[in-house]
Amino acid sequence: MSDSDWPIDLRGVHKTYNRKIKALRGVDVRVGAGEIFGLLGPNGAGKSTLVKIMMTVVLPNRAEGTILGQPIGHKPTLRRVGYLSEDHKFPPYLTGAQVLDFYARLSKVPADKRKRETGVWLERMGMSKWADTPVSQYSKGMLQRIGIAQALLHEPDVILLDEPTDGVDPIGRKQIREILVELRQAGKTVFINSHILSELEMVCDRVAILVHGQVARQGTVEELTAHSLSYQVTTADGIDSLRDEIVRLGAEVADRTVTIKGNDAGAVNKIIDFLRSKEIMIESVRPTRWSLEDVFIDAASSLNEEG
Ligand SMILES: Nc1ncnc2c1ncn2[C@@H]1O[C@H](COP(=O)(O)OP(=O)(O)OP(=O)(O)O)[C@@H](O)[C@H]1O
Ligand SMILES: [Mg+2]
Repeated sequence: MSDSDWPIDLRGVHKTYNRKIKALRGVDVRVGAGEIFGLLGPNGAGKSTLVKIMMTVVLPNRAEGTILGQPIGHKPTLRRVGYLSEDHKFPPYLTGAQVLDFYARLSKVPADKRKRETGVWLERMGMSKWADTPVSQYSKGMLQRIGIAQALLHEPDVILLDEPTDGVDPIGRKQIREILVELRQAGKTVFINSHILSELEMVCDRVAILVHGQVARQGTVEELTAHSLSYQVTTADGIDSLRDEIVRLGAEVADRTVTIKGNDAGAVNKIIDFLRSKEIMIESVRPTRWSLEDVFIDAASSLNEEG
């Protein structure tokens, strides 16, 4: 891919608030078309700041790179970007349908299409019944559903979602994931901020973990968890008396479980052969790996230690 083929291509993004809070300290992020990218990080890591810089809501101290091939801050390009902010506030007197119409109008969607798409998106987000109710009467999850519809209705090419499933129930979350997958299939570029890791794990092609304004890890979920592969052999019989010999074979023992690190079937078979030679009954052999949450906690704590 050439440089301009990355719809989101950010380099060296720095942001210091009030001359002292270093929210971003040199962030590089690239996201391709047809890719769902997840930005993870603890509270205050700088996730929202990065998205706000892309939306020109916040001015960076320094930032290179492009959005849809244009420098950050290029106003006409923003019309091709959909955005759900973390603290969106819609005018409370507007109904859900009016909110969608209002934002679509800002994005210059023609009137007939606005009318049609408003109906389509209210339906998709399970909000048709509430279309004519003022948003001041909506629950958190309902506001979020309208917010997502608002971000997508004008068919943007780049979609930035800041904590999209915040306050949304499990059924709504699943619907949102399905929509994200459709966007990917349509070749859109989706960028999600979240701390709900299990969810990102399900849909994201790549993730970056942001800690203290710096990218601590970046890659596919597969890549980030590969080093943590191991096998667990569980026995029906106690193996305490064999502990030393098992450790000598390169495995760890805890209670009736032997853990063999890595992805080496040969090593696992060696342990099984050994246990069988001692007439130990094997109950199960399971491959395991870290979840994204384990990687996240590891990255957050290692950078915290560095300060
Ligand atoms: N307008 C602002 N003025 C001053 N400091 C700010 C402002 N906005 C954010 N910050 C600070 O910048 C840092 C990064 O904040 P940011 O909102 O980007 O984090 P985040 O990763 O989105 O956190 P969360 O998960 O809580 O949403 C924090 O230390 C925050 O206090
Ligand atoms: Mg945030």
